[in-house]
Amino acid sequence: MKKKYYIETQGCQMNEYDSDKMKNLLSKEMNFENTEIKEDADVLIVNTCSIREKAQEKVFSLLGKWRKLKQKNPNIVIGVAGCVASQESVEISSRAPYVDMVIGPQTIHRLPELYKKSLVSKKTVVDVEFPLIEKFDNLPTVTESKFSEFVTIMEGCSKYCSYCVVPYTRGTEVSRPLNDIIEEINNLVNNGTKEIILLGQNVNAYFYEDKNGNIINFGLLLFYIAKNLDIKRIRFTTSHPNNFDEQIYLAYEKLPQLVSHLHLPIQSGSDKILAAMKRGYTVLEYKSIIKRLKIIRPDITFSSDFIVGFPGETEGDFLKTIDIIKEIQFDQSYSFIYSKRPGTPAASIEDNISDEIKKERLCYLKETINSLSKNRSKTIIGEKIEILVEGISSKYNDMVVGRTKNNKIINIAGNSTLIGEILNIKVTELDNKTLKGEILNI
Ligand code: SAH
Ligand code: SF4
Ligand code: F3S
Repeated sequence: MKKKYYIETQGCQMNEYDSDKMKNLLSKEMNFENTEIKEDADVLIVNTCSIREKAQEKVFSLLGKWRKLKQKNPNIVIGVAGCVASQESVEISSRAPYVDMVIGPQTIHRLPELYKKSLVSKKTVVDVEFPLIEKFDNLPTVTESKFSEFVTIMEGCSKYCSYCVVPYTRGTEVSRPLNDIIEEINNLVNNGTKEIILLGQNVNAYFYEDKNGNIINFGLLLFYIAKNLDIKRIRFTTSHPNNFDEQIYLAYEKLPQLVSHLHLPIQSGSDKILAAMKRGYTVLEYKSIIKRLKIIRPDITFSSDFIVGFPGETEGDFLKTIDIIKEIQFDQSYSFIYSKRPGTPAASIEDNISDEIKKERLCYLKETINSLSKNRSKTIIGEKIEILVEGISSKYNDMVVGRTKNNKIINIAGNSTLIGEILNIKVTELDNKTLKGEILNI
């Protein structure tokens, strides 16, 4: 009988991507099978995130539960992967010595050998090195693909914002070779993928020099990818305001496959706070990117990341964030209360804002964005738009949900046979927060 594995994924899409690769390794190279039932698993792995304190605490409480499973069955192998593994390898092996493997984000491809070592080792086996791009060369190719797939083009971050752990957990920015990316994408597309989502902590910091000394930046990479005309949509996440250049604007001008939606984290609308965060841009510089893109793509929509309650944020600073939200009309956000992270420069700044104020600000920010998004949704009723069907609606089981190129989610009547189809639809109504439409081309 095959041994079984269970992987739990926390954190960002990069972790989702890495977990998929670990699943592929376990199934293809190690001959294990996947299970969704922890109690049945021979190997339990949690792929962790340490972006905020809460995320990190979750890991230790989960490990406490898994320890009980191991007490019942001592043959279970427990692994901790991802960003907490990278940052807290020593603490994990001392606080939770029953953990068998600690695997950093750049060493997941070594899982088969780490697993073998853990079977004979009495201590936790730890591998949290940053061996540059080695991981991608050592992962099995995917043979099945979904209509939409993530492809990592770069990893890590060299920006060192004052509050953030990512440069320490994932390492500095490293880009994958152009040919490897194109090969991975072509393989996915040959297997039926229609939408490619390029992944990286700062995708537009992509920088690769080929053997002939030619430099490929992110904008050029988009042009190379778009040469494959079977790709219907190209999306990317996350990009950074400091790495926007002419080539990227040109890509928005020339490549219809590049969607009209951009997730561009601003974090705060106050220059004083942006400077304290060491973001490296001003509000005006950020706005100039948005302005140019709106000229090229009048229908483009924007979403962003915000941190509220950064030390020193006054009511006035916070209101500047609200002003910029209204001005740019972000219609989606990932917003969180500032979390003090050990080892980051901001951890030494006195945290002078009460929890109550932080919560109030977060709530107000979210309400502002929700109401903008609702107003925007109203304006597209009656429009004819193209959607890519992504799955069954979570609200209505006789409907499916599709995404427009500018990221609006629309429900239409249909079943799972429509998943992955690109359809022309007409938007008919806004039912509370949900947009509904009807198919035009069947
Ligand atoms: N590289 C991207 C974002 C990656 S991290 C960028 O900076 O543009 C994802 C988000 O987590 C960040 O945009 C930020 O909003 C949030 N984040 C990072 N560190 C945080 C902290 N210490 N407290 C609260 N939120 C944080
Ligand atoms: Fe973190 Fe800043 Fe890098 Fe984004 S750019 S991952 S917030 S250090
Ligand atoms: Fe979390 Fe690491 Fe991603 S800290 S957000 S899993 S890069």
